[in-house]
Amino acid sequence: MNNLRLGDIAPNFDAETTQGSINFYEWLGDAWGVLFSHPADFTPVCTTELGTLANFKEEFLERNVKVLALSVDDLDAHMAWIKDINETQNTEVNFPIIDDSKRVVSQLYGMIHPNEDATMTVRSVFIINPKKQVKLILAYPASTGRNFYEILRVIDSLQMTEYKALATPANWEYGEDMVILPSVSNEEADALFPKGYKAVKPYLRLTPTP
Ligand code: BEZ
Repeated sequence: MNNLRLGDIAPNFDAETTQGSINFYEWLGDAWGVLFSHPADFTPVCTTELGTLANFKEEFLERNVKVLALSVDDLDAHMAWIKDINETQNTEVNFPIIDDSKRVVSQLYGMIHPNEDATMTVRSVFIINPKKQVKLILAYPASTGRNFYEILRVIDSLQMTEYKALATPANWEYGEDMVILPSVSNEEADALFPKGYKAVKPYLRLTPTP
């Protein structure tokens, strides 16, 4: 199993998808990316997840994020399953799904957790920034569908904190106060955050969204 960690460079790969052959890096270009694994085609939770993902298309587009799904079934199965997803989830699947029937990408990204299931992937999420660094890794069991609002919330946090000396507190939502990193002195904070900040404690300083 690949031991991919935050900050690592996301491995590149070539793959066959429901929208043609892709090279991951070329397909990503300068965008952010989210790579999702789904345990298997024609399964109930995965059907709702892919439908939800398709319905969130505009949310991902607004954030300059490209979405790529993966399941260990083949292209014929994916194409037939997409029809079911569109019909039952009232949507149109509008992102590529990788044919990973040979488990190449699943192994590369450590999406198969053998003590959970020997052949199917767990529900992995990798968020990758435009420098191709892995910024978030999630692994959910097959029995638990993911919360796509949470994935958008993390993307907002990552994009708001990438180049600023800021972090986001518990349950933060876009637009709410952010936290100034402890490594920033008060003098630096005065210069960096013209909207000001409130020091609840010397190490807990809140500032409005820039
Ligand atoms: C599902 O997507 O519903 C599912 C997939 C694999 C195992 C269990 C549930």
